[in-house]
Amino acid sequence: MIAVIIPAAGSGSRLGGLPKQLRHLGNAPLLLQTALVFDRHPDISCFVVVGPPDALDTVKEILIPLDKPYQVVPGGATRQDSVRAGLDVLDESIEVVLIHDAARPFISGEVITDVIDSTKAYGAAAAALPITDTVRYGKDGCFTTTISRENLYAMQTPQGFRHEILRKAFRQAEDVSKSTDDVELVYPIGQTVQIVHGERTNIKITTQSDWDWASKVWKKEGE
Ligand code: CTP
Ligand code: MG
Repeated sequence: MIAVIIPAAGSGSRLGGLPKQLRHLGNAPLLLQTALVFDRHPDISCFVVVGPPDALDTVKEILIPLDKPYQVVPGGATRQDSVRAGLDVLDESIEVVLIHDAARPFISGEVITDVIDSTKAYGAAAAALPITDTVRYGKDGCFTTTISRENLYAMQTPQGFRHEILRKAFRQAEDVSKSTDDVELVYPIGQTVQIVHGERTNIKITTQSDWDWASKVWKKEGE
């Protein structure tokens, strides 16, 4: 059985206003748009959605259209605290866990399948894209040193793990709250994580310009 944990407990501070996962993208809240892609995927059995502690009723209402079973649990102060809260309620019968940001509604069924296949074969896998832009530090408004982009990846989600590997990683991590994704916790326990080719469109809606782009593209695709 494969479960997906959707961390959706953030406050969306860089975007401002109502937390982005609760706002409408097209005809439904962003959180539901993201969850529906997994609801339609034949390999996914169930969801754990981690919501803002003060908006759990709203989250439950948003998720009513899902066909598959889901649990809603309150999140924590950081993304990793929220993922841990989701992991804590996961049934032991789950073999593979995918973790996917609520803020990435453009995830495709194909990338989900690739992450699942690679996780089943190797224990852990994550979607990512090789960096194609020139990368450079900047300080006080000016550029400084250039970083070679060779072998550099921009991480995406979903990230997939065999259930027992993810549990071990969270048990052994010294300070979970600092990491912004889950690969960071799994690598130190000696588990390799396979690179799955992500998609450019699988952006994490973070800023106002991301939201504007997402709204335009969503409209064009004409759900
Ligand atoms: N997230 C979470 N719990 C937190 C922080 C983040 O579940 N304490 C979730 C967000 O809801 C989002 C995903 O993790 O789906 C990725 O986080 P991010 O894009 O940073 O969202 P926010 O933290 O809400 O935004 P910001 O950092 O701008 O405040
Ligand atoms: Mg954040």
